[in-house]
Amino acid sequence: MTIGGGASGRLMAISDLHVAYPDNRQIVEKLRPESDGDWLLIAGDVGEFAADIEWALTLLKERFATVVWTPGNHELWTPKDDPLQLRGEERYRHLVEMCRRIGVLTPEDPYAVWTGHGGPVTIAPLFVLYDYSFRPPNTTKEEALAWAYEAGVVCTDEFMLHPDPYPSRDAWCRARLRETERHLQTRDPAIPTVLVNHFPLVRQPTDILRHPQFAQWCGTVETADWHLRYNAATVVYGHLHIPRTTWYDGIRFEEVSLGYPRERRAYGLDGTQAIRRVFPDEPPS
Ligand SMILES: [Fe+2]
Ligand SMILES: [Fe+2]
Repeated sequence: MTIGGGASGRLMAISDLHVAYPDNRQIVEKLRPESDGDWLLIAGDVGEFAADIEWALTLLKERFATVVWTPGNHELWTPKDDPLQLRGEERYRHLVEMCRRIGVLTPEDPYAVWTGHGGPVTIAPLFVLYDYSFRPPNTTKEEALAWAYEAGVVCTDEFMLHPDPYPSRDAWCRARLRETERHLQTRDPAIPTVLVNHFPLVRQPTDILRHPQFAQWCGTVETADWHLRYNAATVVYGHLHIPRTTWYDGIRFEEVSLGYPRERRAYGLDGTQAIRRVFPDEPPS
């Protein structure tokens, strides 16, 4: 178990770095801690190519005292032109081994405890994927998928994120839920948690998606009470590319996406605010 965090340090977070985009790569090259004690939580979608993911995580590990990573859907793609052709679970395990080599913590490691400012809190990176249950009520998975195909809003995961050796992405999700719950039981229940997951643990953040069909690739109803059950002080997520703070059951949820260059242009953002203080609360400005 890693324990630490200086008195001046903070827990910082970012997700959806998508470093295949040159603009995003330039932003990542400029990311720096505010103090020597800062930790960085990375909530997935660093990139698609194994070499890109390693480049970004290595750079950030050199700058931040501790770096914690959990995979997004994009890290789990198997792009045809990536020299790494592993699929599914094997690809994930390969990325975990890469993280161990460079000293980055993953969902497979004992949870670190932040004892700096606002601590102690247990930092729990989660990898639970999605199971298509964020679909409209009273529809089957097949009906919801057909609705998405008709609308032309189909997540690229359908073609690039292979669930091997599981028969489906939802079956992989069910296995990850079991595994993650087992891991969460190992924490000290007296200490609050910071939960870090690529996908929102609750469904409400998907209510504002421009294309409601996309929600089925955004999480699972099985985690709806995890922020309460696991005593979360804060929940960090990404994937939606809608950076904002919301509150559910009195608990702060932070969407920390950098997102795509075209999205930042549309929102009038330049990426300089992309890295966010997530714990303790940002001071009122
Ligand atoms: Fe993303
Ligand atoms: Fe994503």
